[in-house]
Amino acid sequence: MVRLHEPTFSTEEIMAALDCLLTTRVTMGPKVKAFEQQFAATFGWNHGVMNNSGSSANLLAISALTNPRAQDRLMPGDEVIVPALSWSTTIWPLIQCGLVPVIVDIDPSTLNIDPEQIERAIGPRTRAVMIVPVYGNPCDMDAIIDICHRNNLQLIEDCCEALGAFYDGKPVGRFGRVATFSFYYSHHITTLEGGICTTDEFELSELMRILRAHGWIREVDDPKPWIDASPGIDERFLFVNLGYNLRATELSGAMGTVQLPKLAGFVDVRRDNANWFRRTLDRYGAYLSFQQETPKGRHSWFGFPIHVKAGAPFTVNELMRHLNDAHIETRPIICGNVALQPGLQMYPHRTVGDLRHATQTMKCAFSFGNHQAIDSQARSYVAEKIGNFLNGRGLA
Ligand SMILES: Cc1ncc(COP(=O)(O)O)c(C=O)c1O
Repeated sequence: MVRLHEPTFSTEEIMAALDCLLTTRVTMGPKVKAFEQQFAATFGWNHGVMNNSGSSANLLAISALTNPRAQDRLMPGDEVIVPALSWSTTIWPLIQCGLVPVIVDIDPSTLNIDPEQIERAIGPRTRAVMIVPVYGNPCDMDAIIDICHRNNLQLIEDCCEALGAFYDGKPVGRFGRVATFSFYYSHHITTLEGGICTTDEFELSELMRILRAHGWIREVDDPKPWIDASPGIDERFLFVNLGYNLRATELSGAMGTVQLPKLAGFVDVRRDNANWFRRTLDRYGAYLSFQQETPKGRHSWFGFPIHVKAGAPFTVNELMRHLNDAHIETRPIICGNVALQPGLQMYPHRTVGDLRHATQTMKCAFSFGNHQAIDSQARSYVAEKIGNFLNGRGLA
């Protein structure tokens, strides 16, 4: 079985989590804090706010940016430009916080948001751009930053599938006001479930700590101003804003600390495999095309996407079925064109253009596993089965 994902953790992480259970210190505490600091320091942010998923990280980031306490707050009805090829919970938090997603098409070669489409989408209520480096392929940051500067737009980076990727030598997520990452089981590293918001803004990080847990000041770095402003209320139970419970557990924090040093090695394996797949499958270029690494980008290859070209004498479903019968798992690319998903139809949003590249990707592309456990035998097996499929049709 060549799976989409294999666990990135083993005895060391399990022992770290077990230690939390055995000491009974299981709820968010020093181990989460230590992981936040380690993660932020590794990539160069001032602050990291861990939570219980990448989706929660997006919700927390957007809740903070729209909160009355936020500097340069996004207001209800403001528009945020997002790529059509994204995940559901890239979009839902925008709606949940009263913003209006504006869905734009992708560049079919990189699968990332097309900067020209961003320019085209900007209207009088546009306040922000939320990008997704698809499968870990960094977006065209030079162009996107230029657009944001010229149009006074805030930049939010949903890097939930892009941990370990770099653009022009800088980690993804270091370009905007706030970034989010996921440590779900199937991702580059895992805390089982888990996510983190990163930012250089102290006030924003404090706000995210408050919103993460009940509107409570218990986890902020500097509680004094809050306490001074509310004399007479027990400072241990002081609630200064609305809030959720999006806290991570200590088990997750402990696992993250063990996982993080392994990330670079995992990404190297993914990159090596992706290069091998591209070289090996290139001979089928008449029928198949592959995601192009963004110039200046260092892709971290969440999986290996393949696009069945228009006019190929077979369908993507036929190819996927052949691979599945050979015990090779496959999946569509993220959630396809999110503008076609029924969930979005109930809520205000705007689409720009016909989104044909995202739709094509939804209909004609798929991916198989490209992770730290794919070895030379597994990758040869996958390439052989793709070759067999085309051979069987007299195409190779
Ligand atoms: C782009 C993107 N955003 C958000 C998420 C949500 O992350 P999680 O599964 O940790 O909630 C994902 C999940 O893979 C994703 O790909």
